[in-house]
Amino acid sequence: MKINHLKISLLSLACLLLSGCGQKSEMDKFIDSLMSEMTLEQKIGQLNLHSAGGFVSALRVTEDDENVQLLRKGELGGIYGTGNVEAMTEYQKIALESGAGIPLIFGMDVIHGHQTTFPIPLGISTSWNLDLIEKSARIAAKEASACGINWVFSPMVDICRDARWGRIAEGSGEDPYLGGEIAKAMVYGYQGRDDEFAVDEVMTCVKHYALYGGAEAGRDYNSVFLSRQEALNGYMRPYAEAAKAGAGSYMSSFNEFEGIPASANKYLLTDLLRDSFGFDGFVVSDATAVVEMVAHGLGDLQEVSARALQAGLDMDMNSDGFVGTLRKSLDEGRVSEADIDRACRRILEAKYKLGLFDDPFRYLDPSRQAEQNWTEENRAFAREFARECQVLLKNDNSVLPLDRNARVAVIGPFADAASEMAGCWASSNHSNEFVTIYEGISEASAAKVTKAEGSWIFNDPEMEESIKYGLMKIFAPNMSFGKVHETPKNVLLAEAVAKAAASDVIVACVGELNNMSGEGASRTELTIPDAQRELLMALKKTGKPVVLVLTTGRPLVLDWESENMDAILVSWASGAEAGHAIADVLYGEVSPSAKLTTSFPRSVGQEPLYYNHKNTGRPHPDYEPYRKFTSCYTDELNGPLFPFGFGLSYTSFEYGPVTLSKDEMSHDGEIVASVEVANTGNFDAKETVQLYIHDVYSTSTRPAKELRGFEKISLKAGEKKTVEFRINAETLSYYNHSLEWVCETGDYEIMIGPDSERLEKAVLTVVD
Ligand code: BGC
Repeated sequence: MKINHLKISLLSLACLLLSGCGQKSEMDKFIDSLMSEMTLEQKIGQLNLHSAGGFVSALRVTEDDENVQLLRKGELGGIYGTGNVEAMTEYQKIALESGAGIPLIFGMDVIHGHQTTFPIPLGISTSWNLDLIEKSARIAAKEASACGINWVFSPMVDICRDARWGRIAEGSGEDPYLGGEIAKAMVYGYQGRDDEFAVDEVMTCVKHYALYGGAEAGRDYNSVFLSRQEALNGYMRPYAEAAKAGAGSYMSSFNEFEGIPASANKYLLTDLLRDSFGFDGFVVSDATAVVEMVAHGLGDLQEVSARALQAGLDMDMNSDGFVGTLRKSLDEGRVSEADIDRACRRILEAKYKLGLFDDPFRYLDPSRQAEQNWTEENRAFAREFARECQVLLKNDNSVLPLDRNARVAVIGPFADAASEMAGCWASSNHSNEFVTIYEGISEASAAKVTKAEGSWIFNDPEMEESIKYGLMKIFAPNMSFGKVHETPKNVLLAEAVAKAAASDVIVACVGELNNMSGEGASRTELTIPDAQRELLMALKKTGKPVVLVLTTGRPLVLDWESENMDAILVSWASGAEAGHAIADVLYGEVSPSAKLTTSFPRSVGQEPLYYNHKNTGRPHPDYEPYRKFTSCYTDELNGPLFPFGFGLSYTSFEYGPVTLSKDEMSHDGEIVASVEVANTGNFDAKETVQLYIHDVYSTSTRPAKELRGFEKISLKAGEKKTVEFRINAETLSYYNHSLEWVCETGDYEIMIGPDSERLEKAVLTVVD
């Protein structure tokens, strides 16, 4: 990831050259002239972002008429959180009639599809299929833009090594290389690959910048304690890659880094993001992140707002810190007019690039909404995509694929739960129409299919209620939601066991509710919730084969399940076509091809757990028992239960030895590492071939393994292919102790295989 240490981006260089010749771009001329007419208040107004009526968080609730009042005063630059074209058109009209008459930008959390929901991002990442990922963002852009949205709060690219953090569901897992490739694919999908925004393309907002996934102990919003070197090597790559792909905006995160919250952190917002990554768009704060710096202990709202602006934050989401205090700070000399102008210009540039000055109603075409959302074509893609996101962890005695003539009992609280297929951050109006696992299996089966709920989520209904209705309880604190469960547990269980006993095979559908992952959903236990594990135990006792289909937003501890279930399919929350996609895999319509992008632990005490860890001076083999004075636990192995990159197929693949085109490489040279992969089973299938490196001796310690390449290939039964990876200095480089991006001389292990553990190795020497 050569982060550009030229202290200037290519675009700013071009601008510099143009201005050096006395020429300005059309955009610059337009914005110069616009800003020369704007009052200071109007400029500050552009820096303010509110949610559409009824923003809610732990800190603030915004009412819609407040937005209208602000709009009339020219004190809003954008609104987010609605896809109601009629209401947005009204907002836009008011914006154009008031203040400087500048159009609003409309944002939205479009995270994994829009009306047609795709699997949660963590699930998407397990496809390792960049073409499908880009296409999913392309479809999401079409659907969102048809709802008037021109700015999406995606991709979420936070690397996370700790499954306790609920927001692990929203990202691409623990690896920065894979995360970087996915970040680029998403940006291209949403924005297109050129500089123009077509009316069905939307501006991205890369989040949460930066290092939010490093929250200590996996507790949301918690502090991040990382060295700059570790941050750059382990976490920053996706943010940098997104900038390279042309991402239009970034969202500053809630957490602190080096003692300064990200939203006022000049090192993050300016030195790194702009001067090194070459980003030249605008940065918006996360929701209320500016006012939260008061609780962080940096000062009052005026102080934190001034610091945020000076550090490089351009737009304030939901804190009213900029709109409420910058005028005063300017009068008192705490910020300069140039600070305000800079931020305002960046926001106007984004609006210009989106074509909003040419036509403020460009994205507000009511006819598109019905035509382009939730189409058959988009749903067909959702099915195709979700099939590639099903990770098969276990398949004893080839219990899968299922025989279409087998009688199936589909049991568990997720068996027929349409809206639980949506996952966190899904806002489709169609979630009740999502295909359930029971529906998918019923369509695919030629035999009798029964279903039963089987259990509550938790034995403690109060806990279940507080998770399920957590958000609603903030909206309507006095509302009563009734009981989460009407039917007693033992009645549910008895029905399930009876149906299971009368079947040939059980598909047990258990896991986490949508609200158990995502924002504000950290856990200290990572097992399948108690009531559901009891259900699994009862099903096991029937003696029928049990296929566990796991709905989850994070890696779980599947210790008991891996011993006792016959097959385990991790399905995440697979979106609109979940049931069809799951059935396609269960019945062998396609072979599963997804592979984990996060390590699945044996015990929560192993967290943070990640494959690309350092060796330590007393390394202990991952799967050997306790040995005093080595780096290990007395009561648990070091290795994960299921490692990064792992996932089974219905076929078998054999990997040949790794060959290098040359054993030595100079710093400006390039070699090719190749491996032959053969499909030795009976199924046509896809396989993701993974390339890892290890720098044997280095001036700073390096991870035991680092992913630096992958390719997903299709192989028919009996077919062989040679997969080649080009390796050059860039492939082997890292940030050294002086934070320079370097490829050091010496030996490197070049490892290729089907996952992060089963690897063939060759040694490459880099020479001066
Ligand atoms: C979340 C962001 C989201 C924003 C706007 C915040 O609470 O952290 O991910 O984009 O809200 O909805």
